[in-house]
Amino acid sequence: MNPKAAVLEREPATSDFLSDVIAGLSSDPRTLPCKYFYDARGAALFQKICELPEYYITRTEIEILDRHRAEIASHLGAKIELIGLGTGAGTKTRILIEALEKPAVYIPVDISKKQLRESTGLFQQIFPDLEILPVCADYLQSVVLPSPRRKAARKIVYFPGSTIGNFEPHEATDFLRRIANLCGDEGGLLIGVDLQKDRHVIEAAYNDSAGVTAEFNLNLLTRANHELGADFDLAAWHHHAIYNSREGRIEMYLISETRQHVHIEDRQFDFHAGERILTEYSYKHTPDGFAALARNAGFEFQKMWSDEARLFGVFYFKL
Ligand code: TRP
Repeated sequence: MNPKAAVLEREPATSDFLSDVIAGLSSDPRTLPCKYFYDARGAALFQKICELPEYYITRTEIEILDRHRAEIASHLGAKIELIGLGTGAGTKTRILIEALEKPAVYIPVDISKKQLRESTGLFQQIFPDLEILPVCADYLQSVVLPSPRRKAARKIVYFPGSTIGNFEPHEATDFLRRIANLCGDEGGLLIGVDLQKDRHVIEAAYNDSAGVTAEFNLNLLTRANHELGADFDLAAWHHHAIYNSREGRIEMYLISETRQHVHIEDRQFDFHAGERILTEYSYKHTPDGFAALARNAGFEFQKMWSDEARLFGVFYFKL
């Protein structure tokens, strides 16, 4: 058995949250930064989103991994160091690691400490021979990863969930360049990407009928109230997601129902009825478009695995 792995803590501080919220609400258009979705409640709500009938993304990615696990594992090779970015509860990574040949090291990086602790505990039990080095961090900032004791054949970054879609294309390229630096010369990238499709399918996924997505989006305001002493009136805001087909992205908004004022510390923000706060973009890519984006960051396309309806793609790139 492994010694109990300590979680390396590199979480953003409350002062970052305050300054990010103030900066976002002061900008035009107004925004709130999406990385703050994932406090304990937000992470639990997102888990529920993943199980919604309309949210095809998680289910489809898992189905693809499950069906093609052997082939994916043979592309990744033996004795690798796997670096997981935003791997959350670890459902997909577990499928992947089970299929890998003698994986050496696993470094999960996630912003949700609770999920990281729980998934690390579980992974230590099911993969007793794997060196696991969990890091609690916002992987958007440059994090310094721990050095494993074991020497691996090569480093592979795993970035599931179509989180890459939450970056604007130029940011996505920059981010992939940083990933390229992280995994080095012989390295590879396995990445889940949501594909462009009928707008109704996409919009339903982000405006579910049970209202869980709305709760998840509104949780940002709850969090600002609890942690920053803001006075958002939760009843005066609603969630709405719109697909912008020209840009190929879903746009997540919190919309003010009335004219209202919100206070945070010594500041006041005035909203008119119908005014929107943008909380997140979720870009949907075409297979060729995404391969081109990754090429700009230095990655060579190897293979894409997809589902029958081609809703989602799991791409593998090498440097
Ligand atoms: N990364 C997820 C996605 O783009 C996040 C997400 C799902 C999300 N539903 C949401 C973000 C609703 C904000 C609001 O699919």
